Amino acid sequence: MKKVLEVIASARGAESFSTKLADHIVSKISEKYDGSSVIKKDIVDSKIPHLNPDILAAFFTPLENQADSIKGLDAFSNKAIKELQEADTIVIAVPFYNFGIPSVLKAYIDHVAVGGKTFKYIDGAPVGLLTGKKVYLAISSGGVYSEGDYKAYDFTEPYLRTVLGFLGMTDVTTFRIEGLNVSALKDRAVEKGLNSVVID
Ligand SMILES: Cc1cc2nc3c(=O)[nH]c(=O)nc-3n(C[C@H](O)[C@H](O)[C@H](O)COP(=O)(O)O)c2cc1C
Repeated sequence: MKKVLEVIASARGAESFSTKLADHIVSKISEKYDGSSVIKKDIVDSKIPHLNPDILAAFFTPLENQADSIKGLDAFSNKAIKELQEADTIVIAVPFYNFGIPSVLKAYIDHVAVGGKTFKYIDGAPVGLLTGKKVYLAISSGGVYSEGDYKAYDFTEPYLRTVLGFLGMTDVTTFRIEGLNVSALKDRAVEKGLNSVVID
C-alpha cells in the first residue's frame, strides 16, 4: 500500500489533460497497491505567495521566535513539506506553459525547497532530505517534446528532475500526453498518453 501525494497545477480545471493523466497514474497505483491512500493537492487556488523577505525570514525562524509581522508566513511551506515527507509516492501534474512549468508550480517548489528542512549541505555538498520516494510526472503539452526538433525546448522535465533530485527525489518516471495541438497527433494523443502508463 502506498501513501500518494498528487499535486495538480493546471489552470484549466476539469478540462486539464495533465490532471487526467495524473489521476490515471494514481488509479493505476491504487489498483496495484491495494489500500493506498491519496492526498490530492490542487495548488492553483491555494494563493501561494511569491517569496519575499518576510516569508524567507519566517522559513528560518522557529514559530515561537517569529515577530508578529512574520508569524505564520511559513504555514503553507510547513504543511507542503510535511505532506511530501509523509508520502512515499508523489504524482505531479505538469501543464506545459511557455516551454516551462506553470508559475504556480514554481511557487510551490520555492516553498518546499528550504535549506535545513528538505536539503542541507555536508562538507559543502548538497544532500537532499526527501529520500526513498517515487515520483511520477504527468506532463501535458500542445507540441511534442519527448523527442524530435523541440526536445531541446523542454524546460519542464529536465528542470523538475534537477530540483527534485536536489531534494533527494531521484527516482522519477515521466508520462506524457503530447501533441494536442499537432493535427496529425491530437486525436490519439490522450489515448496514447494514458495507455503508456506502467507502474513499477
Ligand atoms: C499559458 C499557456 C501556455 C502554453 N504554452 C505552451 C508551450 O509553450 N508549448 C506547448 O506545446 N503547449 C503550450 N500550451 C498548451 C498546453 O501545454 C496544453 O494545453 C496542455 O494540455 C496544458 O495542460 P492542461 O491540459 O493540464 O491544462 C500552453 C497553454 C497555456 C494555457
